[in-house]
Amino acid sequence: MNKSIILGLGHYIPPKVVTNHDLAKLMDTSDEWIRQRTGIVERHYVENGVGNTEMSYEATHMALKEAGLRIQDIDCIILATLSPDYTFPGTACFLQEKLGVPGIPAIDLRQQCTGFIYGLSIADQFIKSGMYQKILVIGTEVHSTGLEFATRGRDVTVLFGDGAACAIVGVSKKEDGKGILSTHLHADGRYARELWTEAPSCKSHPRMTQKHLDEGSWYPKMNGRAVFVSAVKKFEEVIQEALEKNEVKISDVSLFIFHQANLRIVQAVCEKMGIPLEKTFNNIQKYGNTTAASIPLALSEAWQEGKIKKGDLVCLSAFGSGFTWASALIRW
Ligand code: UT7
Repeated sequence: MNKSIILGLGHYIPPKVVTNHDLAKLMDTSDEWIRQRTGIVERHYVENGVGNTEMSYEATHMALKEAGLRIQDIDCIILATLSPDYTFPGTACFLQEKLGVPGIPAIDLRQQCTGFIYGLSIADQFIKSGMYQKILVIGTEVHSTGLEFATRGRDVTVLFGDGAACAIVGVSKKEDGKGILSTHLHADGRYARELWTEAPSCKSHPRMTQKHLDEGSWYPKMNGRAVFVSAVKKFEEVIQEALEKNEVKISDVSLFIFHQANLRIVQAVCEKMGIPLEKTFNNIQKYGNTTAASIPLALSEAWQEGKIKKGDLVCLSAFGSGFTWASALIRW
């Protein structure tokens, strides 16, 4: 059976920086509150007219360069986002058009914060089965056009930022134990309404009403405490699951990359599990929560900064809306 390896990583962050101080001018919040509760200092927002397609295009070209590949080498696109450019068709189709590779499959995933690991897992199965050889897996998010810039939405608005990042997954030619060792996917829809956006909805006639606009139900809503508590629990479970499956210990892992939702969540999980904080890579300070982009963005930056070396064992883990949670263990 084929084994999957990551051939290249890429990311793109829009240039416009929005600091906590900038947000404090628009709503009742403060730099101190945001830093203390989340670790976030600033985030980036796209300019008008830029969407997931444009950001993903840039991230893809960085990954292709890194992998020494041409776009014609890619035979499948998997794109994870909760903020698609349009309701339909999927953003992967628009990206495929922009990349100029008509004909190859273009798949959208809707798994929010765990979207990238779900995508990685699907790519891994395609590679193992021999169906595709070089798969572009992207996580991308434009939150800034869907946030409420007023005190009513402050608990959610201060958390999120825009960005795109990706990995090219290919076939390992060597029997050296390197590559994606395992992936672990979970969901529990009983908690779907703890972090969601209610409108527009096809259950409503019409999908968007004046009431939705007045009540702000087209903005994301979150039960922050419930999400926080479940996140700490499920991160631990799903990391443990990956370690047990591969019969390795925390001390065998070189780097833990957590979905960047809140620095306090990372600290709480590390404390519970005995993971030294130095073994984690965090960039939430600069980007906020970029949801599906967060894990590949951290992975790509960690790689660029030389934090991942050949032979390292890297553990990815995520938790978010759905609820969904997932992990992956990769030998670099
Ligand atoms: O990627 C998706 C997954 N998402 C997450 O993992 C997020 C998980 N949740 C969290 O990270 C945290 O729950 C938050 C950062 C969202 C909130 O932190 P918290 O320590 O749980 O605060 P809280 O919701 O209990 O709110 C504490 C206070 C409240 O005021 P009162 O009721 O104590 O008077 C809030 O109204 O802070 C207030 N508050 C704010 N104050 C200033 C809420 N948001 C803000 C804000 N600025 N932005």
